[in-house]
Amino acid sequence: MPDSSDVVLDPQTRKQWNSLLERLAEISARHPDAMFASSLAVEDMLLAHAIFQARLPIAVFTLDTGRLHPETLGMVDKIAERYGVAVQVVHPDSAAVQAHVAAHGSFAFYDSIALRKECCGLRKVEPLRRTLAGHSAWLTGQHRDQSLTRSHLAESEYDAVFGLQKYNPLANWTSEQVWEAVRAFDIPYNPLHDQGYPSIGCEPCTRAVRAGEDPRAGRWWWEQSASKECGLHEANLKAEQSA
Ligand code: ADX
Ligand code: SF4
Repeated sequence: MPDSSDVVLDPQTRKQWNSLLERLAEISARHPDAMFASSLAVEDMLLAHAIFQARLPIAVFTLDTGRLHPETLGMVDKIAERYGVAVQVVHPDSAAVQAHVAAHGSFAFYDSIALRKECCGLRKVEPLRRTLAGHSAWLTGQHRDQSLTRSHLAESEYDAVFGLQKYNPLANWTSEQVWEAVRAFDIPYNPLHDQGYPSIGCEPCTRAVRAGEDPRAGRWWWEQSASKECGLHEANLKAEQSA
């Protein structure tokens, strides 16, 4: 893989990149069993690139909810082609999903917030809990400028919901810096980003946004709440409420 040190970056972005590599090395030394949860969105591609380039033993997994866009799942193959790394694809418990669909239908998330959270619980939260069980740390690609609920995001925090340390090493990156680095390093990214999707979740729960709209406006767009999170990052909501 070409070494990212030769690539020209804005000095501030270069500083961010160098400190990201240092931070990741520290995390991996402290937690040899650390795992990175990748949504395969652009930030997570940058973080994966850093992990692979530094050859850190941080396992990368993605939660295939069964409702992702084909373009999103296609990133698993793009990662294999570019880096020769197999991302672990985690699936929900099929019996639980079938029971939910049998009871409420395939689009119950549009009917109520409770049913939407139940679907996220079955398709995302339980598989995440199962994957992280027995591990001492996980990493995410969240950053503060993604939403109000993330404006207090810590780079490192104890995740009381899942019972392990949680690292958000891109916390202080801006979206512009993420895109600058992704373009400069020629990192593959989800083609939906070029079709009006700054934030990408499950296909039926994500729409493209219009110019000037909040980047997360397309997530669960039918819900009025400003606190749209799916249960993977419950602590964000608590931090916002106590701020
Ligand atoms: S969400 O909570 O609203 O769905 P978002 O899409 O912004 O989250 O992603 C934030 C972080 O959560 C990602 O950087 C990633 O670490 C994790 N994440 C979200 N979706 C997934 C997924 N399907 N698989 C693995 N990790 C995910
Ligand atoms: Fe279900 Fe939508 Fe949550 Fe995906 S984002 S798990 S489809 S409610």
